[in-house]
Amino acid sequence: MTAESEQAAFVRAVLEGRGRQPAGMATASAPANLALCKYWGKRDATLNLPVTGSLSVSLGPLGTTTRVAVAARDRLLLEGRRLPARSPFAQRLWRFLDLFRPPGVCFHVETTNSVATAAGIASSASGFAALTAALDKLFDWHLEGRDLSLLARLGSGSACRSVYHGFVEWLAGSRDDGRDSYAVALRQRWPALRVGVLTITDAPKPLASRDAMARTVASSALYRAWPEQAAEDLQVLKQAIAEHNFVTLGRTAESNALAMHATMVSAWPPVLYWQPGTLEAMRRVWALRQAGMALYLSMDAGPNVKLLFLAGDEQAVSEAFPTVRMVAPFDDEAGVDC
Ligand code: PMV
Repeated sequence: MTAESEQAAFVRAVLEGRGRQPAGMATASAPANLALCKYWGKRDATLNLPVTGSLSVSLGPLGTTTRVAVAARDRLLLEGRRLPARSPFAQRLWRFLDLFRPPGVCFHVETTNSVATAAGIASSASGFAALTAALDKLFDWHLEGRDLSLLARLGSGSACRSVYHGFVEWLAGSRDDGRDSYAVALRQRWPALRVGVLTITDAPKPLASRDAMARTVASSALYRAWPEQAAEDLQVLKQAIAEHNFVTLGRTAESNALAMHATMVSAWPPVLYWQPGTLEAMRRVWALRQAGMALYLSMDAGPNVKLLFLAGDEQAVSEAFPTVRMVAPFDDEAGVDC
């Protein structure tokens, strides 16, 4: 079976008994998410099945809104600008849409992000979650969160977590058919939790996270230690969330992110996403922590830095990082707009 036919068979199985004829147009939004315990490494690259479970917090109003309509010709607009079909972003999106496309149907897609595209602020996660939710409306499927998560996962692994707001766990699953690998929303809330987004650069990253991930798994000796460490971090983080233990949450999330980057740096050829501005921000976080502030950092596969802190430190964080974008993840927990 080719990768496309394996994915198409997965989609047919998830959509069993649902309509396959789209009509009119539909719009949906989904939040970006920050992984506190990262998804790093696939056990199946076609179905995006992870080696380990992962845990994220969704970034409330930061994310993607996507409109899909049945049209006379395929057309894709990103931030209002038409994208040529051969651009990597367009190719990835059309490959995903082809999994759902009935013969002869074309789509008009308009997508806007409130975070930089392809700069490591999880725009592919919110992008594929929003697109899946828009398709759900366009085809009138009325899928539940689990099935939206299963489908969004085919676009981008981390997209399966962007189906929900709040804390979200992606259950790794163990089945070869991938039907038990989806995200669930945790019931715990933490209204005082804050995430700060520091955009070091919004230039597209030199290497897509899926390529960095594959290269790391294939060539990093440090990666061998990752699955065990990630499984432990996941449990510690869940406990910290249940107890509202911020120091444990921050410390575990920061060291999990740095361990992921260590596996990349030890890959061959090495992958280093950090820019001088990334290091400067990291050093400032560590200096503030040394001075007593409960401030921690995380990063995905890119140069940008996310800060973790509590509401009481908002003022101090904006003074130290004047360009920071503050997110209160628990202010808006409606789930994807579907
Ligand atoms: O969903 P992908 O294939 O873009 O992989 C994302 C991986 C990280 O963002 C680095 C970690 C994560 O769990 O989101």
